[in-house]
Amino acid sequence: MASAARGSAPGVVRGHCREGGAESGGDRIGCAREVRGMQIWVLHGPNLGELGRREPEVYGTTTLEEIGARLVERGRELGVEVLCAQYDGEGELVRAIHRAGREARALVINPGAYAHYSLAVADAIRSVPIPCVEVHLSNLWAREPLRHTLVTAGACRGVIAGLGPQGYLLALEAAVALAADA
Ligand code: DQA
Repeated sequence: MASAARGSAPGVVRGHCREGGAESGGDRIGCAREVRGMQIWVLHGPNLGELGRREPEVYGTTTLEEIGARLVERGRELGVEVLCAQYDGEGELVRAIHRAGREARALVINPGAYAHYSLAVADAIRSVPIPCVEVHLSNLWAREPLRHTLVTAGACRGVIAGLGPQGYLLALEAAVALAADA
């Protein structure tokens, strides 16, 4: 049960699992009782709403809605609630990060181009008390030099880049594990 939209309040693609996990002998992370039912927020930055149509030779043909549905499904398997939202504006993204800090147990973020220059987004990530994992679809170090610098990465616990949509799933697993340890 994934509904899709984007740009307003977080929760545009959401799902919640109350089954699976420990009782069903679920997987490694989902078995941890303390992670069951917690919220993990996935925030996407500018232009990522155009995935699937935007430079498919760089970013592939999978849409943001499809990525969100996969994350919700994986969250269900792990026993966590995944909420996804996309923001084109820096201020909106900063506010969403602050809200994630109050409502979520971990954050997965693809800041898009803001990753390369937004101290505001980096500071927002540093301001929240939850672990954050940064994701990029493309391999930034195989691209133009201006994409080799990430100002947000140092504010995150780790970075996954170059693995396409699979990177979000790996980041979700890492975020759940980090939240369980926090
Ligand atoms: C991106 C990489 C950024 O350099 C770019 O501005 C994006 C997408 C990625 O997911 O590969 O918008 O974050």
